[in-house]
Amino acid sequence: MPSRYAEVYGAWKRDPEGFWAKAAEAIDWSKPWDKVFEKDAGVYGRWFVGAETNTCFNAVDRHVERGRAEQVALIHDSAMSGTKKSFTYAELKAEVVALAAVLRGMGVGKGDRVIIYMPMVPEAAFAMLACARLGAIHSVVFGGFAARELATRIDDAQPKVIVSASCGLEPGRTVAYKPLLDGAVHMAKHKIEACLILQRPQLACDLVPGRDVDWADAIAREKAAGTEVECVPVAATDPLYVLYTSGTTGQPKGVVRDNGGHMVALAWTMENEFGVGPGEVFWAASDVGWVVGHSYIVYAPLLAGNTTILFEGKPVGTPDAGTFWRVIAEHKVAALFTAPTAFRAIKGQDPKGEFVRKYDLSGFRTLFLAGERADPPTIEWAERQLGKPVIDHWWQTETGYPISNNPVGLGLMPVKHGSPGVAMPGYDVQIVSDEGHPVPAGTLGNVVVKLPLPPGALPTLWNAEQRFRDAYLNEFPGYYKTADAGYLDADGYLFIMARTDDIINVAGHRLSTGAMEEVLAEHLDVAECAVIGVADEMKGQLPLGFLVLNAGVNRDPAEIEKETVALVRDRIGPVAAFRTAVTVKRLPKTRSGKILRGTMQKIADREPWTTPATIDDPAILDEIAAALKTRGYGG
Ligand code: COA
Ligand code: AMP
Repeated sequence: MPSRYAEVYGAWKRDPEGFWAKAAEAIDWSKPWDKVFEKDAGVYGRWFVGAETNTCFNAVDRHVERGRAEQVALIHDSAMSGTKKSFTYAELKAEVVALAAVLRGMGVGKGDRVIIYMPMVPEAAFAMLACARLGAIHSVVFGGFAARELATRIDDAQPKVIVSASCGLEPGRTVAYKPLLDGAVHMAKHKIEACLILQRPQLACDLVPGRDVDWADAIAREKAAGTEVECVPVAATDPLYVLYTSGTTGQPKGVVRDNGGHMVALAWTMENEFGVGPGEVFWAASDVGWVVGHSYIVYAPLLAGNTTILFEGKPVGTPDAGTFWRVIAEHKVAALFTAPTAFRAIKGQDPKGEFVRKYDLSGFRTLFLAGERADPPTIEWAERQLGKPVIDHWWQTETGYPISNNPVGLGLMPVKHGSPGVAMPGYDVQIVSDEGHPVPAGTLGNVVVKLPLPPGALPTLWNAEQRFRDAYLNEFPGYYKTADAGYLDADGYLFIMARTDDIINVAGHRLSTGAMEEVLAEHLDVAECAVIGVADEMKGQLPLGFLVLNAGVNRDPAEIEKETVALVRDRIGPVAAFRTAVTVKRLPKTRSGKILRGTMQKIADREPWTTPATIDDPAILDEIAAALKTRGYGG
């Protein structure tokens, strides 16, 4: 079947408002919009102004009312605990209503923030939906972040309640969440009056009297009472959630997502981009703490009436490299979405694909990869093993859904390895020089999107409108800056090559080297530091720190390096995967004092590099190369 992409993209370009108004028919509104797009509202305009709706109603209730009550909505498959549990849409509704009743009883109402700090348990999704039901704004914090990161988010979001659990399960260790939660509450300036705590059987925790509410008891009470909680209508433009993502400093950016535009866009992508219809099973192997988890574990599949899978485990080691195939075969998954790093891990342990052949994957249609650059060898391996299309696509926390993709629902387009596809409706993607001028096809430049951004993409940053303008809009007036560098080829395929800021991508997780530098600088013996991302075969990139010690420090540098590694784990969390710090005499800088991180990264990755003309002292680069060599980099 020839792809309808060109026709559909053309239709959007000719009449964006008409396009999104039509897509909005897939959503139930309690009040229709006055205007599809109001260009004078918000920072760059707002979508579906005047409309009212409820995201939980659209994701849950309407399916129960219209024939999907007995269809499985959510499957929790925990390779960590060996348990599996399914919830039909009717059961999902019962759980969400009971939880909404509990949260309401704890004082949560429309517009209040609720932080969700949870492992990959179904209750995390229930909590998101319960907030949506009440018109409250959730902010999910990834479990691999440390107490201080959680505290920063508490102070920014100022939640009324925190929802958490006693523990998370990681291979080889049970992560006690409660000490992290208590530490964060203690560190935060914003006072937390109430926490709702799920006790997991693997590790129970003590509850703080007067503050902590036991999840099971509270839910049992509301279920026994049969408490009803109606979906609270909210403005389409009201926030559904705030999700913090790495910026260039230690202060994360609170990406705001609205209710109306978000639903319209996500529902559209499910069928047209991912090619998955109502009643089919979709699996995003990510974590609810990331945007992929928000959009493609919870909201998009449920809005579209799919069955979604919430998987607790890793692609390898839980128990083996066949786990993904087991889940696909057992739950009849039609499409899987994960990060390339997961496939690099599987390929590393099962290069010949012996596990793949142990399972019946006949119902599986498409593998989607995103979150980091998908290297062609990994894509080719997956194509060979699966005999199915492997689709790289590109987006960001900020957009909430793909900017570019190969929209299989509209008909598969030719796959070009190394390219995450073509611009999707909503996105006029252009490549411009640093001066903001368009560059010819094939030329590397800044990847920008012409304003306005489409429905569902961030309208602003939480409590930080000026930062939103500064970070995304001011550098290229009239455009949204993605902070990715890349090029478009003559056929309109995009190639994403690198970030233009100090963000690195570790196992598909977005991390700020600036934030890590702030932590290293806290060490009393460290005078100066720099963190770069170095290439890693499995995780894509890994952070590597350079330390310059204070004059007069005569302790063993290896000790100090170890302490800084522990410091980053303690302050940011294990997810940072910061394992290497190297002590050097001095850092290479330009004459104006800018640290030459890019050159150091090229040396470490054995990429061709030249001495920048503006360098203060070229000899320092040799010192850096020598130091890197001691750790197996460069040379
Ligand atoms: N709670 C607590 N700790 C967590 C955690 C959580 N939710 N998630 C990860 N961690 C910890 C891990 O235990 C690990 O700790 P360690 O240093 O003690 O080993 C550290 O954070 C790094 O975790 P991770 O990035 O998951 O690396 P890994 O080495 O455990 O596994 C992969 C590597 C490739 C298997 C893994 O990254 C993976 O499955 N990636 C899939 C891609 C993905 O989910 N991307 C998200 C965006 S789509
Ligand atoms: P996040 O906000 O965590 O989703 O990270 C977004 C960033 O990850 C993007 O700006 C890119 O730098 C990178 N990224 C995501 N998907 C891809 C992809 N398919 N190819 C290359 N880089 C990607």
